[in-house]
Amino acid sequence: MARRRVKGIAFDMYGTLVDVGAVAETCNEIAPDPIAFNAHWRAKQLEYTFLLSLMGRYQDFWRVSEQALEFTTRQFGLDVSPEQRSRLMEAWLHPRPYPEVATALSRLKERYALAVLSNGSPKMLRTGLERTRLLEHFRWVISVDAIRLYKPSPRVYQLAVTKMKLGKEEILFVSSNSFDVVGAKSFGFKVCWINRTGAPLDPLGPKPDLVVRTIDELSTEPE
Ligand code: LAC
Repeated sequence: MARRRVKGIAFDMYGTLVDVGAVAETCNEIAPDPIAFNAHWRAKQLEYTFLLSLMGRYQDFWRVSEQALEFTTRQFGLDVSPEQRSRLMEAWLHPRPYPEVATALSRLKERYALAVLSNGSPKMLRTGLERTRLLEHFRWVISVDAIRLYKPSPRVYQLAVTKMKLGKEEILFVSSNSFDVVGAKSFGFKVCWINRTGAPLDPLGPKPDLVVRTIDELSTEPE
């Protein structure tokens, strides 16, 4: 991929910089199969973002996550106290970065202007990035909340162009979420898919320019 003209890198947050699977540990106390529970919660959370945007409605990502949790607990037939519910939600404010992320970001920021572009609400992003000590690496933390629309609306990716004051061809967008990869590529970004698990590529939409397993591989990629 021609990287010569890339001046800035915009990262997705959940699943890309931080591990949403780590939330599953908090699900241990309520669900017999916490991994399945968490996967359903996450899928429902994303489904609600798609539905809201298609309906022309908006609720922030925290509220969407609460409602997805409410549905998933009912779907699994679980009895969850208000305290347990708030502990589960709190897990989103204590995300766990993937092991290579901090080192990779400190190398990348020497050469590129870095941003986060996420569905997360401003509070979720700020708290999560502060607690993980990743905040210092980013010049911009951009939440979809500014335009009350979710990924993969092209208007979300345009928000990064506007905030970063770069052309879309000067921005490399990095995500592990394949719907986000397809959306960003369709918008016109150069795109890197972080495929940590060797998942198949969604056949829908244009292909990413680059596929790596970890963000570390991105930082050591030769020009
Ligand atoms: C985000 C979701 C897609 O961080 O994970 O935007």
